[in-house]
Formats: sequence, structure tokens, C-alpha cells
Amino acid sequence: LNEQGRTVFNIVAQAGENQLKDGDATKTYGYNGNVLGPVLSMKQGDKVSIHLKNTLPEETTFHWHGLVVPSDVDGGPHHPIAANGGTGQIDFTVNQEASTAWFHPHAMGTTASQVYKGLAGLIRIEDEEQTKLGLPNTYGVDDIPVILQDRNFTVNNQWDYKTSYEADGVYGDTLLVNGTINPYFKVNAKIMRLRLLNGSNARNYTLQLSDGASFRQIASDGGLLETPVTMSTLTLAPGERAEVVMDFSKYEGQLPALVTADGTVVLAFERGTMSDRGTNIPQWQRHKNLTVNPNTLQESMMAKADKTVVMAGMAEAVTINGQKFSMDRIDLTSKLGSTEIWDIINADSAMMGMMHPFHIHGVQFEVVSRNGKPVAPNEQGFKDTIQVEPGETVRIKVHFTQPGVFMVHCHILEHEENGMMIQLLVK
Ligand code: C2O
Ligand code: CU
Ligand code: CU
Repeated sequence: LNEQGRTVFNIVAQAGENQLKDGDATKTYGYNGNVLGPVLSMKQGDKVSIHLKNTLPEETTFHWHGLVVPSDVDGGPHHPIAANGGTGQIDFTVNQEASTAWFHPHAMGTTASQVYKGLAGLIRIEDEEQTKLGLPNTYGVDDIPVILQDRNFTVNNQWDYKTSYEADGVYGDTLLVNGTINPYFKVNAKIMRLRLLNGSNARNYTLQLSDGASFRQIASDGGLLETPVTMSTLTLAPGERAEVVMDFSKYEGQLPALVTADGTVVLAFERGTMSDRGTNIPQWQRHKNLTVNPNTLQESMMAKADKTVVMAGMAEAVTINGQKFSMDRIDLTSKLGSTEIWDIINADSAMMGMMHPFHIHGVQFEVVSRNGKPVAPNEQGFKDTIQVEPGETVRIKVHFTQPGVFMVHCHILEHEENGMMIQLLVK
């Protein structure tokens, strides 16, 4: 805290190197370090000031993915910070409930390559409601970040974005978690909370426990679900987050690992002291979101859409509403304070197309339906990024509380770079 009662963060985008494998160190980018960034902890109602500095040899921006803040502090492509020492400062109030957001660069034409080089960090927002519930929340003990990314290494151990480039998305053959290869975690608490972020440029992850045991998803991108949802697998698209809680109290010997659907170990768990800290998973039933109110849900399902967003094409040919991104064009306008129904359509053919993770800056929306039907229980919470499969129409309900020009795009970062992005003016 500084003297004005503001929470102050200093974030420096910097180049560094990281010894990830035998041989040469990997040249990386990071925030306040060699790769990725610190976890920024904020509370609902906090007045936050962030001092930005860019020591990279190229321009960057600092985007707060999932934060409901005005566009002038949101760090989209309109707000570059100059290379080699450029600085900036942003101030905002945390206006949203407890959740896991993240930050990453968003400069024109270099978002994908800069994220690939290592620029990404988590934001942890807390609020009173959640503190009262008694969910695990001791950072690094029973509440841990799990940032999933994939990378290719050259023969000299470098992450060379150019040699890995594919217009439909850069995929790597090596999984990294929190910037490391083959990570493990020593479990000292019976109930563990994982804050999962898919920070990959293009890859989806389907996650499960190696013994097939179930876990609870407690939160989606924008906050707690209405009630914890029991799951055995969870798929995250680029940009999406999920908070899950795992109960390790029933294991006598070895603990299961977090793995992907093909068996790749994401995070190995080693038995630690396994203290009794919080031995059960709190239960709750919230009555906040539209899905709890059958009338509102019914109305939203029947309503005429206020806007339709059509994502189409592959590789260089991707478009939204038939156009490629232009910084000089406002594509959609919404009234500040209004609530709208949007239909998000993936016009690709179900046979050949790709899933596009649809993202809007500066809001948290609710998902009304998929192809006219109610969505899965773990999608019935606040979201800012949503998977839209080929041929699908996903209907969302979105409330606009922040003014300015916001990006709306596919979160496959190579699609975004290829123009699968539009601008929304909220005024
Ligand atoms: Cu993760 Cu336009 O953002
Ligand atoms: Cu964003
Ligand atoms: Cu896409």
C-alpha cells in the first residue's frame, strides 16, 4: 500500500534466460523475472495502481485478461509501451468478485510471439464472500497456480516462434507448467485448490487425475460457480481458467497425478505432511446468475439476439463477420450500462473446422445456451472466454459496465494475429 491507500504493483517486461534443459539456456521474456510473472493478489474494492515498464527490445502492451476495467487501462493494442525503457501507469478499482484472471501482452502483430516467449502472469482476486466460505487460499500451500503452455525447442534449446509458426496456431511438443518441464508439487494439505490457466497460444488441454478420480470445479473464468461441480475431465481452451479442488485425504500411499487425456503428466503430486488444514470442501448455492432463475434463463433463450458474431475460416483466411481486423474501424457499439444477448456463431463446417475460443475484453458474461440448449453446469458461471465448436451457436448475456473501445477476438493467438478480431465501442 502506498500513502493514498492504493495497492501498488511494479511490473517490468524484461528479457532473460532460463536453464530448462541440459545445454544452452533458453532465451525468454518475463515479467519481473526470466519467464512468466508474479501472481498479483488483489481484493474486490481495492484501488490499484500499476507501474509499467518495458525493457524489451520491442514494443509491448500490458493486458489484464478478465479484469472488468475501462478500455484506457485494459492494455489492448491501442496502448503500446515503447521498447527499451518505456513506462506507463494505470489506475483502476477492482470491481469484480473473487476469481482468477491473467495478464499478457497485446501489441499489434506481436501478441502471439511475445506470449510464446514467456510473457504471462496470473491475477488472483479475493472477496469477502469467498473468504467466508473457507476455501483453501494459502498461496503456495493449498492454493497453487498451474499455467499450462506448450513449446518447441530448437537444437540450441531456443523457443523460436518463427520456426514453429503455423497460421492455424503454434503447437509445441513439450508441455511446460509454470514455465518448467516435468514439475511436481509436494502436497502438505489434504484439500488442494488449483488455479488452472491455459496460457498456450493454440492448444486445448483435457485434464484429469491419473486414477480417474473425480474433482470439483469451483470457479470458471470470472468467479465461483453456483455450486461446486463434480467432474472427471475438464477441457480448457487458450485463455480459459478454471479453479478446481482436489481431495487427497482418501489416499494412503501414492497420490495420483494431474494428466492430460493422452496420459501426459501435467503435475506430479508427492506426499508431504498432508496436514488436516481444511479437511472438507465447502458447499454453497449462490443465487446470483441467470441460470438459477428459470424465468430469466427462459427469456434469454427466447429473446432476439442484439448482436451476432460470426467466426469463420482457417489459417490466413479467418474472419469475424466477414472482415479482418482494422484498428481504424469500430465494428460493434453497445450502450454503457446495457445488457445484451449475443449469438456467437462458428461458421466452420463440423467436419473440417476448428473450435474458436471467443473472448471479449472488459466484461464477464454468462452463457445462456449452446445450440439452443442449456449449457453444462461448469459453464454456468461468469466467463470471458468460451469455446465455440464448428457449426455451433453459443448465446451469451453480457452486461457492459466499462466505457471505451474493447477487443473481441478468437484466443487462438495466431488467429487473432491473422485478423480474427473486431472492436467494440461501449459508450
Ligand atoms: Cu487474453 Cu485480447 O486477450
Ligand atoms: Cu483479454
Ligand atoms: Cu480461432
